[in-house]
Amino acid sequence: MSEAVTLRCNVNGSDVDREVDARLLLVEFVRDVLGLKATRVGCHTGDCGACTLLLDGAVVKSCLVLALSAEERAVVTIEGSNNLAEIQAAFVAENGFQCGYCTTGMILTAAELLRKSPHPSDMEIRHALVGNLCRCTGYDAIIAAIHRAAERRGAVGYAVGSRQ
Ligand code: FES
Ligand code: FES
Repeated sequence: MSEAVTLRCNVNGSDVDREVDARLLLVEFVRDVLGLKATRVGCHTGDCGACTLLLDGAVVKSCLVLALSAEERAVVTIEGSNNLAEIQAAFVAENGFQCGYCTTGMILTAAELLRKSPHPSDMEIRHALVGNLCRCTGYDAIIAAIHRAAERRGAVGYAVGSRQ
């Protein structure tokens, strides 16, 4: 039996207040309740990373957590932050995507990595991407895109998704 609860959080800089089913997943909340369809669903089992978004600045697989996990927290999807534009531009410049299904998760994972490590090594990038699968690119172009984004942004970093 479903139970309706009130969820209050901040999504992409705007406060949100919605009645939701207590069992609703976070990915269902952003896609089906808020209409933010760029967060994708691939596996629903936590394996592919297509549903990756930022919760208080940290990557989370939104198919694995309840929407209520976002209560009084900040959610960032790919639609939500101008701070991600430079990473997106780097992916375009390096052809870091083909079908694009993995790309939103890749970019948000890159944003968290570059916030923590403004000039990551190849190995750091590969390690960061371990939870994001891409069946198209072979990863080299994605790694090049993240290096390019790091060079473009320098020490300023990518502070997205947390309430500061
Ligand atoms: S849909 Fe969430 S990890 Fe694949
Ligand atoms: S670009 Fe197609 S899955 Fe990554």
